[in-house]
Amino acid sequence: MKNIRESWVSRLAFIMAAAGSAVGLGNIWRFPYIVGTNGGAAFVVIYVVIIFVIGYPIMTTEITLGQKAQKNPIGTFKALAPNTPWWLVGALGVLAGVVILSFYSVVAGWAMAYFFKTLSGEFTSQSDTLNIFLGHIGSATPPLLWHAVFMALTAGVVGLGIVKGIGQAVKYLMPALFVLVVLLMLRALTLDGALEGVSFYLRPDFSQIRAQTFLDGIGQAFFSLSLGMGAIITYGSYMRKDDDVPASAAWVIGLDTGIALLAGLAIFPAVFALGFDPEVGAGLAFITLPAVFAAMPLGNLFGALFFLLLTIAALTSAFSLLEVVVAWLIDEKGIHRLKATLITASIIFLLGVPASLSMGAVELNLFGIPFFDVLDQLQEKFLLPIGALLTSLFAGYVYKAHHVRTLANEHAHTLKLGAWFEVLIRYIVPLAIVVILITGIYATYFA
Ligand code: PHE
Repeated sequence: MKNIRESWVSRLAFIMAAAGSAVGLGNIWRFPYIVGTNGGAAFVVIYVVIIFVIGYPIMTTEITLGQKAQKNPIGTFKALAPNTPWWLVGALGVLAGVVILSFYSVVAGWAMAYFFKTLSGEFTSQSDTLNIFLGHIGSATPPLLWHAVFMALTAGVVGLGIVKGIGQAVKYLMPALFVLVVLLMLRALTLDGALEGVSFYLRPDFSQIRAQTFLDGIGQAFFSLSLGMGAIITYGSYMRKDDDVPASAAWVIGLDTGIALLAGLAIFPAVFALGFDPEVGAGLAFITLPAVFAAMPLGNLFGALFFLLLTIAALTSAFSLLEVVVAWLIDEKGIHRLKATLITASIIFLLGVPASLSMGAVELNLFGIPFFDVLDQLQEKFLLPIGALLTSLFAGYVYKAHHVRTLANEHAHTLKLGAWFEVLIRYIVPLAIVVILITGIYATYFA
């Protein structure tokens, strides 16, 4: 039997799924500490500009291309530019899906383990949270088990398909996620001394802004909005042909940025109120926060809710990462969804094993850095920027910017793309990405 391609049941279902893809570890864990260490509100202002100028045009382009072709990323480029090598851009996306999910799932596994650790009261104000964290990620079995559980959950949902699987799951998980962020924010904001955290988080400090800030902002924007690897093309391909693109893209971006900001307001006021150091960077979620929660009334409960939030956010992102690969196997290779899901999830699980072990259990370095970081840097420095660059060049010059604009506007009601869209996608977006690519590579390998 030929697979009949599914569609989201409504425009809201698309928005929830795509926002679910976008809102992930990047928002709850990474965005707050980047803001905290990059000039507070000054960074937020720059980030919002980047979102408008670079994020929005790529988001609308990816949705439009997918909606037009009704195919996975490889199939989309094949359908829109037959007999050209452009399908390779889609292939890069499929590769990125495997690479990103393999280490993403490991981190999501840490969050799940931490949910139970906080709930059971493992952390007290005496706890050495740094060494507990290093001990957890540096051990072999528990992180791998959680990685397996997380991949199984992800595969279970993706295996059920677009309507019954991903569509249903995000319908409950996204509102739950929103309630959790708001709840945690209210808890944090009502602690004594919370306002100091708000002002640290949002006080603009323009002296912290340098060229690197813009580069970090662009990198964060791609990752956070799930752009440059075909996840949004894939989700767009399940949109009905008469669904509104420009407004949907605006909703996804608004939700992603809004939730990232709220996450910071759930974290920094608490960090300050309980007298912890806000500028610890990446260790904030797993090292500082367990200590912060341990020092707070009902901390076990709120701590557990925080790690539940992190888990849900990661899960709805993981659906989209797995779906990119699964959609390719279904559309192009004619493999049944369940089988495609099982094969892909197993491969991703296996790739995640050395990533997890490289965090301390086993010495597993490649080019002198732990395998986990190799995967992360591969997506951040190459896969996403190159994917986004090629997508913008394809849309701007091959498929033609005015054509994308016309298609996107076809069923638009409130918001329509103007001529500015063509200028952005043809000139500004590619230029900005080339600059980050070159400086990124230079800084990593030659400086
Ligand atoms: N946007 C997700 C996050 O912020 C990560 C992601 C990247 C998901 C690319 C899908 C595709 O955590």
